[in-house]
Order: sequence, then structure tokens, then C-alpha cells
Amino acid sequence: MSITYKDEHGVEAMRTACRLASEVLDALTPHIQPGITTNEIDRLAAEVMKSQDSISATLGYQPPGYRAYPKSLCTSVNHVVCHGIPNDKPLKKGDIVNVDVTVIKDGWYGDTSRMFMVGDVSIAAKRLCAVTFEAMWHGILQVRPGARLGDVGFAIQKFAENQGYSVVREFCGHGIGQRFHEEPQVLHYGRPGTLDELKPGMTFTIEPMINAGRREVKDGPEKDGWTIVTKDHSLSAQWEHTVLVTPSGFEVLTLSAGSPPPPEFAQQALVASAAGVAQTQASTAATASA
Ligand code: MF3
Ligand code: CO
Ligand code: CO
Repeated sequence: MSITYKDEHGVEAMRTACRLASEVLDALTPHIQPGITTNEIDRLAAEVMKSQDSISATLGYQPPGYRAYPKSLCTSVNHVVCHGIPNDKPLKKGDIVNVDVTVIKDGWYGDTSRMFMVGDVSIAAKRLCAVTFEAMWHGILQVRPGARLGDVGFAIQKFAENQGYSVVREFCGHGIGQRFHEEPQVLHYGRPGTLDELKPGMTFTIEPMINAGRREVKDGPEKDGWTIVTKDHSLSAQWEHTVLVTPSGFEVLTLSAGSPPPPEFAQQALVASAAGVAQTQASTAATASA
């Protein structure tokens, strides 16, 4: 299948699904405290989705060559890179956990994840979460008609590596719409001016996985067919938004009342993009360094 371009109806349906996914995270936020198990987080999320009349895209999800995913969301703790399966182990003070929620509403998918810090965490863990959030936003700020996916990947990689971190290569963002994972693949590394050209109506995720140590990953010791961990056991963080390419730039679809505010360097581009003012490469660069 090729890239799908959403019309006004599709965009409106994506806005709804994406807001709901983000609202699941909002509802979970006060509960993510020392002592809660990731299974309890999963159960809470299932209840919220029920109240939304949405359904989990991950429950029973089975891409070719995989086992059916058994839970309503993913919880990836500390050195788990992605696709951690909720279990009965309580979170403890100092843990960092990515919670990744994908819902289906009226046949349309919304996909978003955030990092949560459990109680007080180390300065190193806090910095990794913050830098990964900023790396995602540096990628988002590249999104406009005429830009290329390589611009997105390059912006993320450059920022993360300048901070002394590494970018996971084995997993990427993806087109999304009436299917969970569509074309194109959205790499979080790359070279400017390469890969697909962005056009209005495209919707895709940007979801960088950034490691404090080396970039290599491996299957987790659980051998559950899903859990991915860092090879060197270093901490890993990830944030994810679903974005729309608009005529003037981008719209972040997975926003809700509880979304963490975008970083300072994104503010000007956000206002301009929302106002329909086409951003040039140069003006966004000026914003980023302001
Ligand atoms: N939500 C993940 C993503 O961002 C995919 C999870 S698939 C699962 O693409 F089966 F592990 F849940
Ligand atoms: Co996701
Ligand atoms: Co995704």
C-alpha cells in the first residue's frame, strides 16, 4: 500500500481519534506513581477507552511474524526501548516509563506516547526524557509541504547526538490513518533533502527512541516476542505524536488538555503554522536558535 492523503473528513476523524489517545494518557497521569503496576495502568486505560467508545489498536495486534499483542497499551520501563508488555511488577521511585497508547475511533487511528518519571528520578534520567521530548519537537518543526522525511530524521539525529545520546535505528515512525502502520516509514535519523516529499493531507507519527548509551537494541530477556531493550542496558526514552501536514506547515493531532507544553523553541512555529503562515526553512531555523 502507498501513502494515503486525508481529505477534510479524514482529517476531522483523525483529530478525534488522536485527541482521544492523548486523553487516555491525561487520565493515566495522576496514577503513574511508585507502587502501581503496569498491568494496573493497562486496566485503567482499557476503562478510559471504554468510556470514550474507542478501542485499543494494540490489543490483539498481530503484524506478520509476530505474536498477537496481549494488552491495551505498551509500557517500556528504564532500559526497555519499546513495546514493553504490562505486567505485575510495581513501578518504583526513580523509574522512567514510556506509556504508548493507540486507539481506534470510528475506524481511524490515533497514536501517542509520553515519558513519565516515577517519583524523584536521577538527573541523568530527567535529562534523557527532556532531550528526547525536544528531539521529537525538532523533528515536528521540519514538517511542511515540500520538506522531505530526511529533513525530519536529520533534525532529530543531529539534536540527540549533539547531546551525547544515540538514536535507535530498528524502529521508526509511520504513516497512520485507517490502518495502524501505513507508508511512509519515518526514520529518526538521516540526511537532509532525502526520502519522500511531504504533502498536505499526509498523517504520520514522529516517535524517536533515544538511548543514553549505544544505539544497539536486542530482544528482552522475557522472550515474549515484543519487548525490546538496549543492548548495553542503558536508559532509553521515547515520545510520540501523530502529525498532519497542512498547507502552511503542520498540525500536531495528539494534543489534549494534559499534553506537556511544546518547548520554547517551538512556540513561534506553532503559532505561525496554526495561523496559516507558511514557514520557510530559514525562519524555523531562526526560531529554533532563538
Ligand atoms: N504504538 C506503537 C507505535 O508507536 C506500536 C505498538 S504495537 C504493539 O507504533 F503491538 F506493540 F502494541
Ligand atoms: Co505508539
Ligand atoms: Co506509532
